[in-house]
Amino acid sequence: MIISTPRSIVPRRLAVLVSGRGSNLQSIIDAIDRGALDATIAVVISNRADAAALLRAREAGIEAIWLNPRDYPDRDAYDRAIVEHLKARDVGLVCLAGFMRLVGTPLLEAFQDRVLNIHPSLLPAFPGLDAQRQALEHGVRVSGATVHLVTADLDGGPIVLQSAVRVLDDDTVDTLSARILVEEHKIYPEAIRLVLDGGWHLKGRRFKKST
Ligand code: GRF
Repeated sequence: MIISTPRSIVPRRLAVLVSGRGSNLQSIIDAIDRGALDATIAVVISNRADAAALLRAREAGIEAIWLNPRDYPDRDAYDRAIVEHLKARDVGLVCLAGFMRLVGTPLLEAFQDRVLNIHPSLLPAFPGLDAQRQALEHGVRVSGATVHLVTADLDGGPIVLQSAVRVLDDDTVDTLSARILVEEHKIYPEAIRLVLDGGWHLKGRRFKKST
């Protein structure tokens, strides 16, 4: 059993990696604005030029960068470029928020236990794409949202926070996704705060408050 030492994350400077709509990015921006999260978003990086999240960031006065994967020979080179941008901006914690790419070794090694992701199911159920559709098709009565530390195992890292959502008989992918999204927007800023504040350690897979 590997027990890591408790740590707080300094500096409280975030990078948010996005690919699309950016509603989770917005929930982080809003939490910071209303004083619920003591952090700064140093940069937003997208792998897609047309991500609405880039506009949201710029509207909030946050630096927003499109890094085109086609400009790099392979995934590791792309990840190394991201790491350079993060180091140059003194980022302490990386938040994936709808970032539709696998994160590879260069980023995970440079930011060990300092990369978070949000996923729209109660992991370990329904990892990967279309989690809400998977949940509906499986017929579960409860699904939800999970914030976890990112490891090489897809959607498989230690769980920081979860929130459950009841599945209704007449739910569609859209209605279920909408209710899960409400929970995502609550737990992501809260999980970021928990991780930044420190006083936690990993005991095996378990994210635990240190006593
Ligand atoms: C969210 O459902 C998140 O859980 C998943 O991708 C979606 C991103 O939505 N990883 P948004 O771009 O934050 O609005």
